[in-house]
Amino acid sequence: MEIIIATDYEEMSRKAAAFVADLVKKKPNLVMTVPTGSTPLGMYRELVQMHREDGLDFSGVTFFMLDEYYGLSPQSEGSYYSFLRNNFLLPIGIQNGQFQAHEALSPNTAATCLRYEKEIAKSGGLDLVVLGIGHNGHIAFNEPGSPFDSRTRLVELSMETISANARFFKSPADVPRQALSMGLATITGARKVLLLANSQAKARAVAMTLQGPITTQVPASCLQRHPDFTVVLDSSAASLLESKVRVK
Ligand code: F6R
Repeated sequence: MEIIIATDYEEMSRKAAAFVADLVKKKPNLVMTVPTGSTPLGMYRELVQMHREDGLDFSGVTFFMLDEYYGLSPQSEGSYYSFLRNNFLLPIGIQNGQFQAHEALSPNTAATCLRYEKEIAKSGGLDLVVLGIGHNGHIAFNEPGSPFDSRTRLVELSMETISANARFFKSPADVPRQALSMGLATITGARKVLLLANSQAKARAVAMTLQGPITTQVPASCLQRHPDFTVVLDSSAASLLESKVRVK
């Protein structure tokens, strides 16, 4: 595990973008996940700027969504599909075939989740999983109690996650209660994992993830066992870590 501690959100975002850009340059047909939420917005802004100003080329990259609210149309404002299209994929010129999205309206979730796993395998497997982290240690929408051997599936969102994400909706009642999410085994099966976290509100989840026991009660703790795991934090998110960590 490598832990990189940035001074603030902007520096965290620049370091994360540089990490991704470096991999895209080394492997133009990279297969990677795209997270949603507040954490990666700065990284997406940096990557869009690199695309526009330095010609960083994403035309060979395949993107997989980590998760999506179940039952929301992709076109609706609160969908993760809309978020990713608007904040990242359209600005970097991504074509439809390069972006794999969960079928959030499918009545047959078992079939669509299996198809998703097959698409990942068909693309040669995930080279890079980029993740944010929830206050309760969730990654993608693998809430506490999710099995480490889980695959893409329909999940129930915890009350904590529903209230944390209510800010993206008109009212908390509008937040969907279920989601389609890559599983923990899907995530840990990736060749590289990059986890981002900023703010004091994430400090406890970060410390438990990186230095606590490996337990399904802190889903992200399974990443401790990953052979190629990089964490980029701002100083607030790192504030509860013990000093013995290896810091770059
Ligand atoms: C989103 C996702 C979630 C978020 C997490 C943190 O695709 O997979 O696990 O990364 O809920 O969200 P923010 O960044 O909004 O604090």
